[in-house]
Amino acid sequence: MQVTLRIKRFNPEADTQSHFENYQVEVEPTDRVLDALQTVKWYQDGTLTLRRSCAHGICGSDAMLINGRNRLACKVLIRDLGNKIQIEPMRGFRVLKDLVVDMEPFFAKYRQVMPYLVNNDPVPQTERLQSPEEHERFEDTTKCILCAACTTACPSYWSNHEFLGPAAIVQGHRFIFDSRDQLKSERLAVLNDMTGVWRCRTIFNCVEACPRGIDVTKAIGEVKKAILFGKT
Ligand code: FES
Repeated sequence: MQVTLRIKRFNPEADTQSHFENYQVEVEPTDRVLDALQTVKWYQDGTLTLRRSCAHGICGSDAMLINGRNRLACKVLIRDLGNKIQIEPMRGFRVLKDLVVDMEPFFAKYRQVMPYLVNNDPVPQTERLQSPEEHERFEDTTKCILCAACTTACPSYWSNHEFLGPAAIVQGHRFIFDSRDQLKSERLAVLNDMTGVWRCRTIFNCVEACPRGIDVTKAIGEVKKAILFGKT
């Protein structure tokens, strides 16, 4: 089948503002949007710039706006979109070129929640054991691949870029609810700040956008409860 890709382009060395360009591509219905984009780049216009690495929904590097919704290009099949597909960079981040956005502010917020296990007890002879029930408390948020689809779908983030955003809160949740972690109060203090969880208005865009199916709003709600009632 033939599809028309309408791609938002921006070259900082030549353009003062972004514009759309159309490309006709021959694809299989079972091809993914990433395949179509690579066909454009490899055979029609080598200047098209996008990020991708694993091509299997794991690395999170090819999140973009596909027909108005944040998606991983490597996980969306052409047959589910029809023959007119509009592709834009994620909203709310500075565009470096075409579909590539500046992720550094996103990772700066990620670092604020200290996304690593802290346990100052003596190192045990074996693993730090945890029951299945204890693991279940944060299992969902371990699935985050830091693609930023949730944060860049969040109107609260669009209106205030100081907001840490859903992804950073999800990463905080992953450690706050880990029975082995000993830095809960510090993480909760970061998320209780003016830029933290209280900026979430439970709009649920993050849940719809997450390519990993994480119940992001539920995780944010659990962090709010942990701040208010101290229960993790
Ligand atoms: S390229 Fe790695 S998630 Fe799509």
